[in-house]
Amino acid sequence: MTLRTYKNKTPKSESSCYIDPSAVIVGDVRIAEDASIWPLVAGRGDVNYIQIGKRTNIQDGSVLHVSRGTDSNPEGYPLIIGDDVTVGHKCMLHGCQLGNRILVGMGAIVMDGVIVEDDVFIGAGTLVPPNKRLESGYLYVGNPMIKKRPLKESEVNFLSQSAQNYVELKNEYLEEGLSS
Ligand SMILES: CC(C)(COP(=O)(O)OP(=O)(O)OC[C@H]1O[C@@H](n2cnc3c(N)ncnc32)[C@H](O)[C@@H]1OP(=O)(O)O)[C@@H](O)C(=O)NCCC(=O)NCCS
Repeated sequence: MTLRTYKNKTPKSESSCYIDPSAVIVGDVRIAEDASIWPLVAGRGDVNYIQIGKRTNIQDGSVLHVSRGTDSNPEGYPLIIGDDVTVGHKCMLHGCQLGNRILVGMGAIVMDGVIVEDDVFIGAGTLVPPNKRLESGYLYVGNPMIKKRPLKESEVNFLSQSAQNYVELKNEYLEEGLSS
């Protein structure tokens, strides 16, 4: 079963979303219009919630999780992903907040309390340590990450294009009747 209820919370999505049948989405997970969830994604909204924005794509093998509240941080760390975000293959997003038009390169790890502003590129394999803030308009790479350089105009434009490419791809998958 792809969409699993946990403690009376059932994942919510729109009919325009593509959710691959091999994905596992549990509990309080809210998926907005035209988002897509690709094969073998695991998203576990059990000890906090996960929100996925419009036209955002979460590519194959990525893992999404959250942290519970504590005495020092009662809200814990939900995972909030904005609109038009591309999450590449096999990424780990844990208890962080991503704005709009972001590319998370393949295999990147983004940890609790991180805030990524709008229009950011995170290179493949980057490790973003807890509680860092990534500034709008920059490329970040490396383990641990460094702020590498400002984005070129073509790269900023590509952020929306990448999301749009995935909207078109998921529409083809929906036409094939492949969504869960
Ligand atoms: C980050 C990225 C966009 C950089 O592209 P680029 O045009 O090669 O960037 P640059 O040529 O300006 O490289 C800047 C520097 O960062 C380094 N670099 C590039 N990507 C890097 C990465 N992922 N990790 C570490 N260093 C990286 C380059 O070697 C270069 O180093 P130098 O200044 O010492 O020579 C690209 O390498 C990348 O990681 N893309 C992610 C693609 C992806 O995962 N898409 C999602 C799946 S569809």
